[in-house]
Amino acid sequence: MLRKAVIPAAGLGTRFLPVTRSVPKELLPILDRPMLQYVVAEAAEAGVEEVIVITSRGKEGIADYFRGRPELEERLADDAELLERVRSGTELAEVSFVIQQEPLGLGHAVLTAREAVGDETFAVILPDDIIAHTPGTLSQMLAAIAGRGDDAAAVAVERLPWDVVHNYGVVDAETVGAGLHRVKGLVEKPAPGTAPSNLSIVGRYILPPRVFDCLERTPPGAKGEIQLTDGLALLMADGPLYACEFEGVRYDGGNPMGLLRASLEHALAREDTRTAAAELVRRLAAELDAGDGG
Ligand code: G1P
Repeated sequence: MLRKAVIPAAGLGTRFLPVTRSVPKELLPILDRPMLQYVVAEAAEAGVEEVIVITSRGKEGIADYFRGRPELEERLADDAELLERVRSGTELAEVSFVIQQEPLGLGHAVLTAREAVGDETFAVILPDDIIAHTPGTLSQMLAAIAGRGDDAAAVAVERLPWDVVHNYGVVDAETVGAGLHRVKGLVEKPAPGTAPSNLSIVGRYILPPRVFDCLERTPPGAKGEIQLTDGLALLMADGPLYACEFEGVRYDGGNPMGLLRASLEHALAREDTRTAAAELVRRLAAELDAGDGG
């Protein structure tokens, strides 16, 4: 059973400057909901009751987002739909916060949650990776590794074009089932041309608590940072690590164009916005075809 999830959200969000001067990247919206809310919802769907968000100084807006809003709720008391939307931010799970004092890497960020997680298996979700699908990726991973032992760890992976895999963690793995692989090795941001496969790690992890001991022992790696991927290489030494391919489209919310694409495709999929979004896309496409769009 998975009760806790850690969401690292301590980064500076440089690719979204200047907006990230005051708005944490994780609160930027896909259409009208913060990216962070999508991943909290995915965790809740997988049974998670407690979410631990790793933040840094200057990102107090994230904690503020999860505060109750009694005055606002009172003013919207007659509008059930708006009231539901206000509450949707806070009702999914219990959310707590841990501050990462220094930007020493993803592995280090996860390690700061050690006390809050305690001695149980937990999930890590990177909020930049938004995956549209029901059931969510975490649920799919839990189903994929069910019956493979309480100690099993898992990462989500996606086959990506070979020319982009150097931006990711990459696994060397042996296929053991449909979309399920047993990891034999993994490397963070391999130099171009050296990746062991194109199975690239996407930001979803299921980890037993002994990963914290591994992260304690993990030396700085790619970019001089303590990498979660390197911690998992140590974890693998005394327990199975699985790589799960998943159903659903992944959006890279870590850069402005990825977020724009996510917003547009969500607008096209959502009933209340579908017609207007489709009209917009058709008009823009027609303008581009006619040569008016540059
Ligand atoms: C992080 C992880 C990497 C993973 C990626 C997925 O990298 O270190 O292993 O493939 O997330 O989004 P980052 O995107 O923070 O550079």
